[in-house]
Amino acid sequence: MKKYKIVFVCLGNICRSPMAEFICKHLYKTKFNNLDLSICSAGTSGWHDGQDVHNKTKQMLIKNKIECSGFASQKITKEMFDNNDFIIVMDDSNLINVNKMFNNTNKNKVFKITDYSNGKYDFVEDPWYTDNFQKVYDILTISIINFLNNLK
Ligand code: 4NP
Repeated sequence: MKKYKIVFVCLGNICRSPMAEFICKHLYKTKFNNLDLSICSAGTSGWHDGQDVHNKTKQMLIKNKIECSGFASQKITKEMFDNNDFIIVMDDSNLINVNKMFNNTNKNKVFKITDYSNGKYDFVEDPWYTDNFQKVYDILTISIINFLNNLK
């Protein structure tokens, strides 16, 4: 079985992409353990390097019995970009930034997680500004399940 290496990417790597990382790790452990995955997350900015996940992301994960300990925010590097199969971003701004940072033209490598929302959403809005962590959780859960089902 092929091993797939995945990085979830947002702007700050404290709200959305860590939530995606831990939801995906949880789904992998509980429902998709037939797959062989490596899962992590990063930000395009590096503004919160070394910090734990945003408190409201943590509360949302704890409420849903999803483990999220030992996190440290990090900026995406060239090595991470090169060494992973999928760079999964949250919105168009992340998409533009990642493609620019690494001169990427491969749409199969870098894409928005909402491409797997069955056309329901175009991006994962930033809860740093909207405060709607529940909506982020719901969009990510549906989309990540569809993405993982597609890898089978
Ligand atoms: P994230 O949210 O990209 O989902 O982690 C943000 C976190 C921090 C900032 C912006 C967005 N910030 O401006 O510091």
